[in-house]
Amino acid sequence: MASLTVRQLDEALKKQLRLRAARNGRSVEDEVRTILRGAAAEGDAQPAAASKPGAPSPRRATLAAGTKRVLLIVGGGIAAYKSLDLIRRLKERGIAVRCILTKAAEHFVTPLSAGAIAGERVFTDLFNPAGEFDVGHIRMARETDLVVVAPATADLMAKLAGGLASDLATAVLLATDAKILLAPAMNPRMWANKATQRNLAQVIADGVALVGPNSGEMAEAGERGTGRMAEPLEIAAAVEKLLGAGKAAQPLHGKRVLITSGPTHEPIDPVRYIANRSSGKQGHAIAAAAAAAGADVTLISGPVNLPDPFGVTIVKVETAREMLQAAECVLPVDVAIFAAAVADWRVTNAGAQKIKKKLGQATPGLSLTENPDILASIAKRKSQRPKLVIGFAAETENVAANAKSKLVTKGCDWILANDVSAASGVMGGDRNTIQLVTAKGIEPWPPQTKDDVAAMLVAHIAAELEKK
Ligand code: C5P
Repeated sequence: MASLTVRQLDEALKKQLRLRAARNGRSVEDEVRTILRGAAAEGDAQPAAASKPGAPSPRRATLAAGTKRVLLIVGGGIAAYKSLDLIRRLKERGIAVRCILTKAAEHFVTPLSAGAIAGERVFTDLFNPAGEFDVGHIRMARETDLVVVAPATADLMAKLAGGLASDLATAVLLATDAKILLAPAMNPRMWANKATQRNLAQVIADGVALVGPNSGEMAEAGERGTGRMAEPLEIAAAVEKLLGAGKAAQPLHGKRVLITSGPTHEPIDPVRYIANRSSGKQGHAIAAAAAAAGADVTLISGPVNLPDPFGVTIVKVETAREMLQAAECVLPVDVAIFAAAVADWRVTNAGAQKIKKKLGQATPGLSLTENPDILASIAKRKSQRPKLVIGFAAETENVAANAKSKLVTKGCDWILANDVSAASGVMGGDRNTIQLVTAKGIEPWPPQTKDDVAAMLVAHIAAELEKK
């Protein structure tokens, strides 16, 4: 019997395996064995003809019992590239994905790339003899638990609202009984256009679900506004919510999770405040990942420029004291994660009116006092202490040593330590390099996106709660 060395696999695959293993509470080796067993069983069930090009696809028959299937319609917009990541995210969650590309989508992504990630043939034509014989649009519309349109362009939304069936994507949308989820993406002016808003109102009235669009920079230089497609992780969270995925895909099902995120603003007077550079991206990503894992999530957010994560209860605050009060109101919870960059000090002599600059007079003196430590006060509670209290240690030097001492002084169970020196690009950026500090020692995580950090943290939390 051949032996397989996991060490020889490429880094990306190893990371995926580690995440999968942690999520399923198995060792990496056990996970590999499980995958091989499944693949071998699938191979047995596969008729020999299926391997011939153009032969009917037997995928439906070989999906493991309970596997949910999503039919992903990719529309023609620049955001189509994110749909490839969406396929990966859905597959990571054990969801089978079948893809349709519209003609316009093929200008942005190829059937080959989508098919390679989905692991299934991609469909493009309404009148494809092989396609009709294999899985025609009616079968495709029926053989799915959810239809997702991402990016949902203005054109696709208009056709859906009008009940058109002029190509494979729209014919399937008209023929399906399954719930439809749209992730709109278009130029802000197209989104704001009365016709689009009319179509939007119509599809919502028809029972279609929506995720996004978000606000921010557009692909066109200098354009900002509402119209960015929701991020793949947000869409995956929305999909999981709509599918009501089972416990295997929802390792935090039934758990209550509290997360703080973003900076706090401490007023100097009604128009000025003390703040910091925290973007809230990491905390918000954790909230989205925990919600996608089935948790009942309350996100307490300081002022940030981010969309509210899907399926999360959000409490918006400004100051550290408001954040503490909000956190105490959310108790009891199973897990509390403190990702907010809380201002250490607040101004005791804040002006009730705007402090005026007076020529030739001394600059105003600000008197500061320490803010309450939210993490420490929740971690050291005698009653209603969460089972798992997790803090962050954003350091610019001696990262691990400072994090270790913080674990003790704050009384928390885990610290996610990260280097936030200017050179690291972590503050405001999309990537993060974490060292997980626990009483048992330090576990360095690979450099990765903040979304991947969030997924890895959720997998670790799920594994830890299983033990408790
Ligand atoms: O003390 P320091 O700010 O480095 O600690 C970082 C950790 O403590 C983070 O998890 C942060 O959310 C939390 N913290 C808090 N309340 C404060 C200060 C920090 O919850 N006032």
